[in-house]
Amino acid sequence: MTEKTPQLILAPIRGITDCHFRSLFQRHFPGFDSALAPFVNPQRHSNFQPKQLKDLLPEENREMVVVPQFLHTDPDDFLILAGRLLDLGYTQVNWNLGCPAHMVTRKKRGSGLLPHPDLILAFLDQVMPRLPMKLSIKTRLGLEEKEELLHLLPRLDDYPLEEIIIHGRLGRQMYRGEADREAFALCLEQSRHPIVYNGDINSVLIFQELQEQFPTIDRWMIGRGALANPFLPGEIKGLEVPDRLERLERFHRELYHCYQEMLSGPTHLLGRMKQLWIYLSASFPPQQKTWKKIKKCHTEVQYQQVIESLFSAKK
Ligand SMILES: Cc1cc2nc3c(=O)[nH]c(=O)nc-3n(C[C@H](O)[C@H](O)[C@H](O)COP(=O)(O)O)c2cc1C
Repeated sequence: MTEKTPQLILAPIRGITDCHFRSLFQRHFPGFDSALAPFVNPQRHSNFQPKQLKDLLPEENREMVVVPQFLHTDPDDFLILAGRLLDLGYTQVNWNLGCPAHMVTRKKRGSGLLPHPDLILAFLDQVMPRLPMKLSIKTRLGLEEKEELLHLLPRLDDYPLEEIIIHGRLGRQMYRGEADREAFALCLEQSRHPIVYNGDINSVLIFQELQEQFPTIDRWMIGRGALANPFLPGEIKGLEVPDRLERLERFHRELYHCYQEMLSGPTHLLGRMKQLWIYLSASFPPQQKTWKKIKKCHTEVQYQQVIESLFSAKK
């Protein structure tokens, strides 16, 4: 087993882990070393609006080291956006080869590119010599077949990539089934790049099993597991975290107020909070019952009542 302290990265979860969430999370729950931001949506003809970069503005990202992520497949658009981010102070960007959404994959983006290795290499050939910063990749095992990534990895060896983050599922699986550890092991053998493990780290026990199985890995990405239990990254690192319930309550209150100011109307506000509760309800068992109560809320008053009862039941 590796003796080094594991490096933990907050996974991008579009619709939840925006700059406000990342900052508040980092302030209240220790353990993460950095975060990968959810992807910036590609715009035609590089004509993106400044609004799109709001999530990456340095003043909104002081609490945590953040790497921006692109879903782009047009090299020029990618480079223009990278240039903007360089101006903002970023030194690394990540390319998304994992998004499983049909709307994305049918345009040969995200995991939709994995069956087309020649397109991936052609893109890198165009982008890498002109990219003024480091590049990492986040990928799945394939869109349809695990062999897609297995065959691609050796061909990426000659590109100066910072690291490759592998989520052990296929695009067509979406989030069904379990992250495939055997397939991840095979991928490790096929690459000379630093590899980051991602997928289903939902408890300290699972983390320890993975650490034993993959002793050469020292960087780990956690998404839904940390949304379900925000103390998980700290628990993995063996950190003492006092006043857990108060922390969770404060975190929730501050996030709620932040979105209350930012978003117009209860539909948007509650919609946003519900995205988080899909996972966070696991911290208030029985999970399904808690989730049902929250899902049913249509007004801020109803929502606040449910939240209050959930927290007081734990006191
Ligand atoms: C709602 C949702 C949104 C996601 N958004 C992104 C994204 O913007 N970029 C990305 O690379 N992965 C995205 N992912 C995938 C996660 O980053 C991660 O790879 C996946 O959830 C597996 O890790 P986990 O089991 O630790 O959550 C998303 C996942 C979910 C469930």
